Amino acid sequence: MIVKTDKDIKGILEAGKIAAEVLHKMALRLRPGITTGQLDKIGEEIMLRYGARSAPRVAYAFPGATCISILPEVAHGIPGTREIHAGEMVNIDVSVELNGYFADTGMSIPVEIEDERAHEICRVCLEARDAAVAAAKAGDKVNEIGKAVEQVAKSYDLTMIKNLCGHGLGRTLHEPPENILNYYSKQERGKLQQGHVVALEPFISEGPETVVNCGYNEWALVVPSGYYVAQFEHTVIVLEDGNILATVLPA
Ligand code: CO
Ligand code: CO
Repeated sequence: MIVKTDKDIKGILEAGKIAAEVLHKMALRLRPGITTGQLDKIGEEIMLRYGARSAPRVAYAFPGATCISILPEVAHGIPGTREIHAGEMVNIDVSVELNGYFADTGMSIPVEIEDERAHEICRVCLEARDAAVAAAKAGDKVNEIGKAVEQVAKSYDLTMIKNLCGHGLGRTLHEPPENILNYYSKQERGKLQQGHVVALEPFISEGPETVVNCGYNEWALVVPSGYYVAQFEHTVIVLEDGNILATVLPA
């Protein structure tokens, strides 16, 4: 959506704050032995407390309140009885709806992983996410975002998952601009406008550039085993006098 009023901005920020709190509290509880279903329940209870709803459930009938993906799952993992173990990389993606406004955030977390590569890919992905936020400017081409992400990834000899994208959102979970690429493409010709609400979510990868369906349910997207992939996501309101991050905890 394009925010037009203070009410719109407030609506996105309220939803964003809840998404951020859900993600933060779930991340704090993430440890070996907890199941993805238990973790999801923690998130769902916070949403309920605020009268917010799970956006993937509302928009797509996703079978969970949040997406919890354990590598080689990269996105859209379904929470359930699966126990999380030390040494696993977990991605939690939280999107919520409140009063008709949507916000979307996510992060990858190495669970007791000693391998420095896992930590590096998270640092690089955070840097890429922040570069994406900085490259999203009212009046500029959307493809500046992918260019910025690609630049960060390449500077560490890493790459990007190319068939997972950022997206517009606001009145529902996915809106124009539909596919905000995480790499540079001159075919991506759209421009960002003053007030555009976008979710920016680079997926940084050690090798694979494509995710595929997992084969055991219709949701989870996977890469081949043995590679680290990380995702970090913020919802951003693009404004000429400075972008506003919506999915942050209150100061
Ligand atoms: Co998300
Ligand atoms: Co998203």
